[in-house]
Amino acid sequence: YYVTSVSSCSKVTGQSHLLQFWKELSPEEQAELTLDLQGMDFQEINGFFKKAMETSCSKQEKMDSRMEPVPREVLGSVTRDKESLKDWEVAGLHCISQSNVAVLLLAGGQGTRLGVSYPKGMYDVGLPSHKTLFQIQGERILKLQQLAEQKHKIKCCIPWYIMTSGRTMESTKDYFSRHNYFGLDKNNIIFFQQGMLPAMDYQGKIILENKGKLSMAPDGNGGLYRALGSQGIMDDMERRGIENVHVYCVDNILVKVADPSFIGFCVKKGADCGAKVVEKTNPTEAVGVVCKVDGRYQVVEYSEITLATAEKRSADGRLMFNAGNVANHFFSFSFLRDVVQKYEPKLQHHVAQKKIPYVNAEGQLIKPDKPNGIKMEKFVFDIFQFAKTFVVYEVLREDEFSPLKNADSQDAKDTPTTARHALMSLHHRWVLNAGAHFIDENGRHVPAIPSLKDGTDLPIKCEISPLVSYGGEGLEELVKGREFHPTLMIDENGVHDKVRLGYIK
Ligand code: UD1
Repeated sequence: YYVTSVSSCSKVTGQSHLLQFWKELSPEEQAELTLDLQGMDFQEINGFFKKAMETSCSKQEKMDSRMEPVPREVLGSVTRDKESLKDWEVAGLHCISQSNVAVLLLAGGQGTRLGVSYPKGMYDVGLPSHKTLFQIQGERILKLQQLAEQKHKIKCCIPWYIMTSGRTMESTKDYFSRHNYFGLDKNNIIFFQQGMLPAMDYQGKIILENKGKLSMAPDGNGGLYRALGSQGIMDDMERRGIENVHVYCVDNILVKVADPSFIGFCVKKGADCGAKVVEKTNPTEAVGVVCKVDGRYQVVEYSEITLATAEKRSADGRLMFNAGNVANHFFSFSFLRDVVQKYEPKLQHHVAQKKIPYVNAEGQLIKPDKPNGIKMEKFVFDIFQFAKTFVVYEVLREDEFSPLKNADSQDAKDTPTTARHALMSLHHRWVLNAGAHFIDENGRHVPAIPSLKDGTDLPIKCEISPLVSYGGEGLEELVKGREFHPTLMIDENGVHDKVRLGYIK
């Protein structure tokens, strides 16, 4: 019965080729394929394809002339607005102490560029502690809870919502459980799953990756909004009294999870939606830019901006579109609820042309050497257009942004090595700011700004556990006036360096 109904449905919707190898499949394979097909709404998928192709064809050239940079009045900056920073931080920490702040991690990506088969958050970039991205983030949440509790003398919690995809759910959950949730209460870590969509050829036919299996991929990090509704996450947030949500991507080793200053800034500005940015200085850097198009805020993704526009400069010599998206967003709960209830269906899919392995009509597996089809994705920032009060918060790249995208290789950017260096350089600066010095084997002071020669590693290795310091605070009492032989490690067990016990190579 199922096969007949699926078969007639796929025929009506032009997808009957999915059953072309049916007779060659084993009963188990048939059962699996039937299950996959039953879960599909072919009419909806065909509609997505049609719309996505229409917009992607008409989009680019027209966009350039309509783009405007972010106006100064919506911009807050950690360098230009120093006098307000403390107020913002205080306001954010107050929200955290009231348990009305949640963090939401987008971790449904496939990590294709990094080339690992497990979720990116489980990656160890080779820090002295060998902590993974997940562990660093979890410990930052724990520390921030403690800071808020100490300051406001009240018990609080920051729920951590984690979006995974069908491919990453089990391994992610298992990893958290094996690591005892990094000391957090497991009831405050909520996993949920985003949707998947099939890859399609240019005619809108779903691609088979083998005779009995559709080629499927997660529906983009903007799949978040559908999942928030369908997985009951909005209800969970409401029950917990969440008012402010910090959404971020898994790959930035410097991410300030639930950053009090960012949250405080957004709340004090009365914003329903905010984006954190760093200055984009290289026109071809793979970051989206926050800007206005037709008077509405949006991110123009690096894959969708023309080189001519990316290279435009303002009178001061800076890139005109320099608000580089670091994929850290603020949403008020009520804005998110409106998005989930009203706006989500209006979001268009973006089209990515890809080389998608497929089986041809003869049943052979083909690995194409040029793009042969598309994947459709929604983007998390596509809801900016619906914001009533949108703000942008500019931070320093060296303090807050070092994403892990690619595997190590000679000229690669955003690798495990660059991520590791970024974190240790930041911690090195924290220690110097707290009044300590580093000395080499001969007892000489190591220069504060290390010179990095090709192929050499950082001269100073320094790692501070998030359990000791969230953002550089609280270090003076541990290090002021002291001299250290790198590698320096500061963790919950104390301060260790090369000449002290407990040195970890
Ligand atoms: C992303 C941003 C880009 C920004 C850059 C900064 C988007 C669409 N683009 O680009 O503007 O400048 O980060 O580093 O946000 N993910 C899912 N589900 C998916 C696909 C991705 O949860 O279906 C998650 C990933 O796990 C990751 C994040 O979204 O945490 C970003 O994905 P990635 O593909 O690495 O984005 P970029 O192209 O680097």
